[in-house]
Amino acid sequence: MMYSEKVMEHFRNPRNVGEIPDADGVGQVGNPKCGDIMKMYLKIEDGIIVDVKFKTFGCGSAIASSSMATEMVKGKSIDEAMKVTNKAVAESLDGLPPVKMHCSVLAEQAIKAALLDYSQKNNIHIDGLEDFN
Ligand code: FES
Ligand code: FES
Repeated sequence: MMYSEKVMEHFRNPRNVGEIPDADGVGQVGNPKCGDIMKMYLKIEDGIIVDVKFKTFGCGSAIASSSMATEMVKGKSIDEAMKVTNKAVAESLDGLPPVKMHCSVLAEQAIKAALLDYSQKNNIHIDGLEDFN
């Protein structure tokens, strides 16, 4: 299986690993295809994601995807973060092998789960989360 240099680099040196103890939104998702787990923490101020951290118990592609996804949402608005799809994450990593595409889904879902948690805690509506649970 061939991994891009970017995947290898994010796997070896993942960004934003850890926890945010006073996070405004926390999302945990599991991948039904493999059982891997990802937890995402968001710090949100005035609608902007000012900090993000993740913990992933999973394969290299899941770790690289989470790392890339955190970079893609950091400093962005909630609406912009909602547009970070698994496809966008995989493209930013210069692609994932087809059998590893589901690993990037975990990253998208973890961000959305954390945003859902934030919206529920603050009683706000986020467009696009209607069907997510
Ligand atoms: Fe997830 Fe192997 S199935 S690490
Ligand atoms: Fe399960 Fe990658 S093999 S997330």
